[in-house]
Amino acid sequence: MKENKPENAKSDDLHMNTEDSSGEVMSNNQGLRVNDDQNSLTAGDRGPTLLEDFHFREKMTHFDHERIPERVVHARGEAAHGYFESYGDFSSITKAGFLGEKGKKTPVFTRFSTVAGFKGSSDLARDVRGFAVKFYTEEGNYDLVGNNMPVFFIQDAMKFPDLIHAVKPEQDNEIPQAASAHDTFWDFISLMPESMHMIMWVMSDRALPRSLSMMEGFGVHTYRFINKEGKSVFVKFHWKPKLGTHSVIWEEAQKISGQDPDFHRRDLWESIENGNFPEWELGVQLVEEKDEHKFDFDLLDPTKLIPEELVPVKILGKMVLNRNPDNFFAETEQVAFHPGHVVPGIDFTNDPLLQGRLFSYTDTQLTRLGGPNFAEIPINRPITPVHNNQRGGFMRQTINKGKGGYNPNKASGGCPFQASMAEGGYVSHHEKIEGHKIRNRSKSFMDHFSQATLFYSSQTEVEQHHIIQALQFELGKVKSEAIRNRMVGMLTHVDQTLAEEVAKGLGIKEIQKPEAPLNHSYPADADPSDYQPTEA
Ligand code: HEM
Repeated sequence: MKENKPENAKSDDLHMNTEDSSGEVMSNNQGLRVNDDQNSLTAGDRGPTLLEDFHFREKMTHFDHERIPERVVHARGEAAHGYFESYGDFSSITKAGFLGEKGKKTPVFTRFSTVAGFKGSSDLARDVRGFAVKFYTEEGNYDLVGNNMPVFFIQDAMKFPDLIHAVKPEQDNEIPQAASAHDTFWDFISLMPESMHMIMWVMSDRALPRSLSMMEGFGVHTYRFINKEGKSVFVKFHWKPKLGTHSVIWEEAQKISGQDPDFHRRDLWESIENGNFPEWELGVQLVEEKDEHKFDFDLLDPTKLIPEELVPVKILGKMVLNRNPDNFFAETEQVAFHPGHVVPGIDFTNDPLLQGRLFSYTDTQLTRLGGPNFAEIPINRPITPVHNNQRGGFMRQTINKGKGGYNPNKASGGCPFQASMAEGGYVSHHEKIEGHKIRNRSKSFMDHFSQATLFYSSQTEVEQHHIIQALQFELGKVKSEAIRNRMVGMLTHVDQTLAEEVAKGLGIKEIQKPEAPLNHSYPADADPSDYQPTEA
């Protein structure tokens, strides 16, 4: 059995806050030793509890406040510690230090999640899985916040609150908890042609992983790598599980959900406890800047993938998860990922979904984690030192010395630290930007069906049958006939036989094929700035 006690820079850092009280005398939060933790202080044998009972008050007050809001999405999750090991020196494509040397190991903390369910929901719901990795690099924290599917439902972050309101339980009665089997979700989807590629993935076996260690991960968006010369190359990130990609079928998922809603969580925990450490390889698809427009889709469109036949995945290293957290709340619940946590050598593109995400994560964490100091929470703090002029705020831990806190500053010897490009300060890629302020989508984002069709036709007959059955089941729960009809009509744009088979299962005799343009879809010669959404 492999040794389950890896030491790395982040484990050492966490050790400062790790508490093992075995064999100690109980004390209260002021360090006062406690003599009785089971009986309140009362007036006489059978009399009332005294307000004076500070031990009772402290114990109960802490308990009364021990819940924090669950994540607005991805509430259900589990995580583990481990490391990333680079297979080589990749400095010719990125100056990111953790990829700059063969054998270099970087501590990681990785959280997997479902998207739509509550914190207590079943692991095997039909859903997308989150795949978020925090690399504690020597240049600061880098978060690769991905999913187990390579594309997303929508092209623009502006639509994200609508998507999530539609997929979460309905707002009047909070039914159903099973994410996708309801009217509001399919109402939204049937009016959103750009979601059709993702819907094929979500209705496929990929939405029912056999184990978290048997699923792929994807960065989804196109990012940039930047090398030391400042040269940029477009990059799509992939995690490839060493155990291969495997799923359960829907009947199995339903039984498992009933018998063991913690199926994935338990499997991850026990694998690590038993020394069967899950492993993934990190791969990238690289596209030179000069080739940006050579595809028949837009690299900035997060509803599209780059077929691996066109651009093969180059493997850069591996991730091994080899230590369970000591405390679920302190680590798994309080960890704060953010696609905007980058290191030199990694940069963003103008993907409108990614651009919106760059705002959303810190914003939500300000509420979820109680104010602006959550980067000081042990699981979130980097292994590199932090020096800046941020001060105050609820629960500030750092005791900043001196009279400073501002910059420029020449008083008392001046500001003790300076921003410096020469010392490895992060420099954003010098991309040239030009344009008018407008609200529209580029024409290059308008093909919503080709890759949905490509995905469906790439599936085996059995897998296609699973997609048909999934759509029959999910749409069979939809009460509105109009929504069912509209959805089946939409499927004709993906595959006529698929639509016909789903229609049969739903008892729809005549498929109403929607006339182009569908809502948010455009004829090839349309001018997007003239476009007004049409009634579907
Ligand atoms: C979690 C927003 C799209 C992956 C979250 C959270 C928010 C959010 C608010 C909760 C964060 C927290 O409480 O710490 C958004 C928005 C999106 C978007 C506004 C689109 C505009 C995506 C996409 C992916 C993704 C495309 C995958 C590439 C994740 C993951 C988590 C998450 C993995 C859970 C992180 C964890 O384990 O703590 N997202 N998201 N999200 N999101 Fe997104």
